[in-house]
Amino acid sequence: MNTNHVRTFAALVAGAVVAAGAWSLVNTPAVQAQTAVVYDAASVKKGLDIAPVALDFTGKDKNQVGYGSYLVNAIGGCNDCHTNPSYKAGGDPFRGQAKVIDKATYLAGGNVFGPFTSRNLTPSAQGPVTGSLANFKQVFKTGVDLRKLHPQISPLLQVMPWTVYQDMNDVEVEAIFAYLSSIPCLEGGPEEKPNRCAPATPTSASAKPKNITTEAFQIGLDGTGSVASDGGKLTYKWTSAKGSPVATIMFADTDKPVVQFNTRGPIDYVIELAVTDAKGTTATDTVSVKYVGR
Ligand code: HEC
Repeated sequence: MNTNHVRTFAALVAGAVVAAGAWSLVNTPAVQAQTAVVYDAASVKKGLDIAPVALDFTGKDKNQVGYGSYLVNAIGGCNDCHTNPSYKAGGDPFRGQAKVIDKATYLAGGNVFGPFTSRNLTPSAQGPVTGSLANFKQVFKTGVDLRKLHPQISPLLQVMPWTVYQDMNDVEVEAIFAYLSSIPCLEGGPEEKPNRCAPATPTSASAKPKNITTEAFQIGLDGTGSVASDGGKLTYKWTSAKGSPVATIMFADTDKPVVQFNTRGPIDYVIELAVTDAKGTTATDTVSVKYVGR
């Protein structure tokens, strides 16, 4: 990376609280050195011009994002490995065509290098790539695979040139992170959950059918419409609701229980389903059954 593109100046600021890490305490009086960054204007402009996707500057420093785009798109070569395919059909410079990067796959990962697959670098609804700037810096400095996708092979990212990127300075790494946080979310990448761009829905229980009148002494219920907020597995527990006559419930820890009525009808039962997700969050739903058999 060319550090000449970034000029920094140190200003002495007495008393003011500035971002942690950017200052150190000196005995008395409290004097702190604050570093303000001036990004090379031509690089920022180039970065903003060549970004292949619309950028979201909300809450961000546009110059920092532009500089990050410059580093990612004009220097870092991230697109070559993290966009699959790297160029749109008909826009492949390796075939002598004018370069076109596909918005629909930009930096969403999925390029296969032997046993390794490049990761999705776009932010998800849950947050930016690697979760935080601190994590991102750690990945760039040490190559640690925070997602531990191949512990049997190595705890370190393979193929990914962190061995080169680790010598970038903080200003550069922070600009890259700001840029990656402002590109649109895309689906895809190894072991990413589906609907990663959709805001998380809360865990919910769905017990069906809702209101049944039945003569059959045994019926099946259905909890398959229940949803875990993380898209993962749920545990199921079906019980006779408080105040309801007690029914015999078989397969009560599955999504398809079978309920038997032990008392002569007509009698009203309420059966409750409680589902619990991986985080321990529980949601409930009930079905009402009027048993009219005898
Ligand atoms: C030579 C190909 C290559 C280039 C160039 C490359 N990467 Fe990667 N990167 C990969 C591969 C492959 C992985 C996954 C490695 C593994 O599974 O061991 C990866 C992983 C990552 C991860 C870890 C993501 C996670 O979810 O844990 C980040 C962050 C990352 N790359 C950022 C970048 C950025 C930013 C650039 C450009 C400055 C870049 N990479 C350039 C190949 C590349």
